[in-house]
Amino acid sequence: MANFKEQLSRYPAVEDLARRAKKRLPHVAWEYLDMGTGSGAGVRRNRDGLDAINFLPRFMRGVQEQALKTTLMGHQYEAPFGIAPVGLTGLMWPRTEIILAQTAAKYRIPYTLSTVATQTPEAVGPHVGEMGWFQLYPPRKPEIRADVLKRAKDSGFHTLVITADVPAPSRRERATRAGLSMPPRITPQFVWSGITHPAWTIATLREGLPTLRTVHKYAGTGSIKHVSSFVNQNFGGTLDWHYLKEVRDLWDGPFVIKGILHPDDAEEAIKVGVDGIQVSNHGARQLDGTPAAIGALPALVERINGRAAVIFDSGVRSGLDIIRALALGADFVMLGRPFIYGVSAFGNTGGDHTAEILTADLKSNMAQLGVQTIEEVKGLTPA
Ligand SMILES: Cc1cc2nc3c(=O)[nH]c(=O)nc-3n(C[C@H](O)[C@H](O)[C@H](O)COP(=O)(O)O)c2cc1C
Repeated sequence: MANFKEQLSRYPAVEDLARRAKKRLPHVAWEYLDMGTGSGAGVRRNRDGLDAINFLPRFMRGVQEQALKTTLMGHQYEAPFGIAPVGLTGLMWPRTEIILAQTAAKYRIPYTLSTVATQTPEAVGPHVGEMGWFQLYPPRKPEIRADVLKRAKDSGFHTLVITADVPAPSRRERATRAGLSMPPRITPQFVWSGITHPAWTIATLREGLPTLRTVHKYAGTGSIKHVSSFVNQNFGGTLDWHYLKEVRDLWDGPFVIKGILHPDDAEEAIKVGVDGIQVSNHGARQLDGTPAAIGALPALVERINGRAAVIFDSGVRSGLDIIRALALGADFVMLGRPFIYGVSAFGNTGGDHTAEILTADLKSNMAQLGVQTIEEVKGLTPA
C-alpha cells in the first residue's frame, strides 16, 4: 500500500487485518492461524467473556492526556501489551519473527519468541533489542534444555516463559481437515493454493519452506520431516513442578509460567518462585472446554494477591479488551493472532500496524472512560 497512514485508515481494526490475512493466506495457513480446537466454542467464549465486561464512564474531568508506560518484572515498556509466542510462524508469512521483533523494538513492547518458531534466537536477537522474551517448550534432555536457555540468554532474551498448558498436542480438527502436515504435503490443492495466493508463494519461495530452525542443531539435520518428529519425541510432555524448579534455578532473570487457569496451580508456581503468571487458555487451542480465560482471571488475581505479576492473554482484539483485562486485575496483556493477522495482511509493516491499532484504541477508550494512566485503568470497576 502506498503509505502507512493510508493503510491504517483503510484497516482501522484487528478484524480488518484478519479479513485481509484470510484472503492473502493459503487455506491451510489461515486455518492453522485462526482455529481453536474441537467445535471452536472456546474461541467464541473467550470473545463473549471479554465483550460482557463494561464500564460506566466518568466525564467532566477537563484536559486529559493518556500515558501508557508500564513497568513489569523490573522492565519498562511503552505500553501494557506485548506479543505472545506463536509457533510455526513462517507458515503464515516468512520472517514474521524478524518483522515482529522489529515492531517490538520500535514500540518498546515485549516480543516472545517460541521454541518452535521458524527463526532462531540468534537471528531474532539483534532485531528485538531489549524487548526479547523467550518461550520454552520443555526439552526432555537436560543438555538440550541448558543449551536452548543459553542460546536465548546469549542472544539477548531476558525474560523466560515456560508453557504449561500443552501436556500433549491437541486435535485441532480445522488444521487437520485443511491438510496441515510437516513437511507440507504437495497435493494438487496445495499447488492450486500457491497459484491463487501469489504474494505468499513468492515470499515463501524466496525464504524456503518453513521449518523449526532452533531445533536443527539438536536434530542434526534441517530436513523438515526429521525435525518435526524430533520435536515430538524430545520436547514437551515432561513438565511438572520439579522440572519448573530446575528451570527456575537455571534462569537468571524474570521467569513466567504461561497457560495457568486454576488458582491451585498458581499457588504451586509461586512456591517454585516464578515472577509472573500468564493467565491464558492458549487462545482456546488446547481444550475447547475451558471457561473464557477472562472469566478465570479474577479468581487467579485474588489468589496470587500481588505475589507474582499477572499477565493475561486469549481473545484480546482491541485496546478496550486490554482495558478490560487490566481492570480485572492483570498487570499486562499479550496478544497472539492479532499480530500475525497484521503481518499476514501487510508483510513488513503489519506488526507496526497492529501495534498502532492497539495503541490508538487504548488511548481512545481511556479518554472515553476519563482515565489517564495504566494505574487508573487498573482501578476501574466494571459496571
Ligand atoms: C498460530 C498459533 C501458534 C501458537 N504457538 C504457540 C507456541 O509456540 N507457544 C505458546 O506458548 N503459545 C502458542 N500459541 C498461543 C499464544 O501464545 C497465545 O496464548 C494465544 O494466541 C492467545 O490468544 P489470541 O490469539 O486470541 O490472542 C499459539 C497461538 C497461535 C494462534
